[in-house]
Amino acid sequence: MANSLTWYGHSALGLETGGKRLLIDPFFSGNPSAQVSAADMQADYLLVTHGHGDHIGDTVTIAARTGATVIANFEICNWLSAQGVDHTHAQHLGGGFQHPFGYLKLTLALHGSAMPDGSYGGNPAGFLLTTNDGKKVYFAGDTGLFGDMKLINEEGLDVAVLPIGDNFTMGPQDALRAVKLLAPKHVIPIHFSTWDIITQDANAWAAQVMRETGAQAHVLSPGQTFAF
Ligand code: NI
Ligand code: MN
Repeated sequence: MANSLTWYGHSALGLETGGKRLLIDPFFSGNPSAQVSAADMQADYLLVTHGHGDHIGDTVTIAARTGATVIANFEICNWLSAQGVDHTHAQHLGGGFQHPFGYLKLTLALHGSAMPDGSYGGNPAGFLLTTNDGKKVYFAGDTGLFGDMKLINEEGLDVAVLPIGDNFTMGPQDALRAVKLLAPKHVIPIHFSTWDIITQDANAWAAQVMRETGAQAHVLSPGQTFAF
């Protein structure tokens, strides 16, 4: 069964896999790139990489309306429970769990994770998902480049979703180095051009990735879907 990954702008992504609907970092309200509204989004699971407002986004309201289960680190899950979110599943770095949609492991991310109200959001994370049809997808979250991406490479990645915006995360040159470390079949850039401070030429980056690596780079427009 095909998997379909939709980019909603900034770091907000949707993944349909095995009949389950996932939203990753569901930031729609106040997201200048988003073409859809939080009120229209459906989900079975919400995955949150870290506590920053541009990632936790509309998690509380979407969870309340849909009854979706939120998967995040322990500290974020506690914070969400205190906000009235009924269904959470806490994991932590290096820990994986077989969910109905696949095996999900939290990975290292070099970043921060304070919650929007300033409270402690634990450590930031990325996600490594093995779908039930055996596809490996790595969502880096917000992160700087780190050498242990080599270990993630050993998983044999079908798709890597990487930030390229610079300033808050890897910029284009470090994201290119990340592609070389990760060696995915496909790579999708995110976390760029939402605001002036992270504006990047993603098409130029994609062209360089395809010149210098074996990965296929796919620059999506907000709302566009990549099937794999
Ligand atoms: Ni962040
Ligand atoms: Mn961010």
